[in-house]
Amino acid sequence: MTAIAAFDPVTVTPRDLHFANDGGKSNAWLSGDRVGTAVFNALSLVFPEGERMFMDAVRHYRPQLSGRLLEEARAFIAQEAIHSREHISLNALLDRGHYPVEAIEAEMRRRTAMMRERGPMTMLCVTIALEHFTAMMADWFLQDDSLLASAPADIARLWQWHAMEETEHKAVAYDVFLEVTRDWTRKQRQTVRNRTMRIVTLLFTRNIAHFAAMLLEADGMNPVEAHARALWFLFGKPGLFRKSWKTYADWYRVDFHPWSHDNRDLLDAWRQRFPAAPHAA
Ligand SMILES: [Fe+2]
Ligand SMILES: [Fe+2]
Repeated sequence: MTAIAAFDPVTVTPRDLHFANDGGKSNAWLSGDRVGTAVFNALSLVFPEGERMFMDAVRHYRPQLSGRLLEEARAFIAQEAIHSREHISLNALLDRGHYPVEAIEAEMRRRTAMMRERGPMTMLCVTIALEHFTAMMADWFLQDDSLLASAPADIARLWQWHAMEETEHKAVAYDVFLEVTRDWTRKQRQTVRNRTMRIVTLLFTRNIAHFAAMLLEADGMNPVEAHARALWFLFGKPGLFRKSWKTYADWYRVDFHPWSHDNRDLLDAWRQRFPAAPHAA
């Protein structure tokens, strides 16, 4: 891994984009694949509540930041706010009379409330762990556009835009964590990071599989098959969480930093496809 000091800073630019998502009404918008569609819809359903917690975690520490990191924190919050807005509008297409959307949202509120009760440092640690997951998935979406190739164009664009901005800001919450724990020892940081990631890995993967299965069950699939097929999509084929296991494992290295996985060339290529539409902060 390359030392982070060798990197040029990556500018984080909120792009205030809107997507027309009508194609998301289908229960198989992902290449006719009901299981993949349910997994993506489950991810979309968890984003607004999750991203609200990420924003609040970083916002809490904003008074301790200055200079470039303060600017990045502001841009991070702006990006996540726009992501939430667009996922809320995508999620609004799901038929709430048919799918257990409210139950999933209530479960997410309950889970994030538990994190919030533990205070801002727990929220920040959970944020950096989940940002590692989103950065891993984003890297895959940006490298291999075959998964979204047959999706309705605007849905594919929404996920690609989100993936690009997740890549762009993947180190911001982490750098905030480094800054506000600058009095901690490396060992203290690593102990907390590792413990958080073990819990987050279990809960996040279990939640996504569970929520996707709930959506599939609403469409008539039996619960055992729904869970098995959702898990296979995540860990088998195509393997949303399996593909990037090496990047995942880097987290546990003492010298980990999100830009240790240097995908700036990929990011730059995608930035050409999403010119910055400035966000009025
Ligand atoms: Fe996001
Ligand atoms: Fe993010």
